[in-house]
Amino acid sequence: MTVVGIDKIGFYTPGMYVDMAELASARGEDPNKYLIGIGQSKQAVIPPTQDVVTMAANAAEQILTPALKAEIGMVLFGTESGIDNSKAAAVYLAHLLDLPQNTRAIELKQACYGATAGLQLAADYVRVHPQGKVLVIGADIARYGLRTAGEVTQGGGAIAMLVTADPTILALDDVSSYHTADVMDFWRPTYRTEALVDGKYSTNVYLNFFKTVWADYQQQTQRSIKDFAAFAFHLPFTKMGRKGLRQILPEATPEQQTTLTAAFEASQEDNRNVGNLYTGSLYLSLLSLLRHGQLIGNERIGFFSYGSGAEGEFFSGVLQPNFRDGFVEERLAQQLADRQRVSVAEYEQIYAAQLSNDGRDVQLAVGAEQATYYLAGRQHEQRQYRKQ
Ligand code: CAA
Repeated sequence: MTVVGIDKIGFYTPGMYVDMAELASARGEDPNKYLIGIGQSKQAVIPPTQDVVTMAANAAEQILTPALKAEIGMVLFGTESGIDNSKAAAVYLAHLLDLPQNTRAIELKQACYGATAGLQLAADYVRVHPQGKVLVIGADIARYGLRTAGEVTQGGGAIAMLVTADPTILALDDVSSYHTADVMDFWRPTYRTEALVDGKYSTNVYLNFFKTVWADYQQQTQRSIKDFAAFAFHLPFTKMGRKGLRQILPEATPEQQTTLTAAFEASQEDNRNVGNLYTGSLYLSLLSLLRHGQLIGNERIGFFSYGSGAEGEFFSGVLQPNFRDGFVEERLAQQLADRQRVSVAEYEQIYAAQLSNDGRDVQLAVGAEQATYYLAGRQHEQRQYRKQ
């Protein structure tokens, strides 16, 4: 059977962040609640000149050459902060990236699970069409509202993955375990720009779903915790994944508990400094594990994907020996290091400056925008995308 999986990963987050200790002080909280209790140090601040389409394009252009673009047969765009109730963000993206027109371009939605749905659909497509290449996106802006309990778990950015046969980074196992239940833990009706969330309940549902799919996966595969070198979690905030790991750590020997905990520390590093990407979070965590961890290749990694509402999935894959060739480390490191810190007052201004929902023509101040792809405004109810 054809080996399929993740061949390349690109990641983009805008060039600004707010410091979580500073935000805690501004909100009258002990900084350690945010830094330790929630587990976040910096939060991406998203300017109005970036939306899910431009962030996805900025992530994808890191991994695509003109030759690769010509081979992409499908674009699967996972997002829960899309820009249109009808037209897929994938269509805008395919145009911006100059992809061939004999491509399927579709948007997928199930809260933070959308990119995993894309990854699994892409893998099945490539199993049937081994020459096929699929671009899978997870892009979101996580927005809860100023001075809400969820404010500390905001963030934003995009992950772009190329799914192919004989992948460079990760060969996906074909068994996976998934679980769906109609749960009102987090949702965003079409008339709202900020999510509604029952925060504590959502964390309990997350942990219960993890328990369910982990048990089912083990039953299906006869594998157990000893078969894994690391676990990557959907990380709405890093403490959430830490709680997930703690649920299963007692199943491991003391030595393995140490290595799994070290792997978790590596896997949360970048998420801790960016915040929630919603559907891209699990894959930013994978990238963080690869960048900061001690893995060398041929290890099995377990993945827990969770999308409120709710869908959970546990799946696995084997890290490939040349996995470091699948992402551009210097570029990722530079992108994060070059970000500018903004004050809480500036963050609040930027938060309020998002594109209005009234359809009026807008020309955005684009002078400070450094990204290759950006949004210049809106004219006649159409977003004006630009490339520089
Ligand atoms: N020092 C260290 N720790 C401290 C502290 C201090 N001074 N003060 C408080 N803490 C700890 C608390 O003990 C608590 O730790 P535990 O969870 O381990 O008990 C932690 O900090 C958080 O404190 P609270 O529970 O009081 O926090 P809160 O009421 O302000 O809300 C939250 C936290 C529910 C996560 C809230 O931020 C929220 O609603 N976030 C959005 C929802 C979310 O992300 N849910 C996750 C699951 S859903 C999902 O995964 C999908 C998705 O992406 C949205």
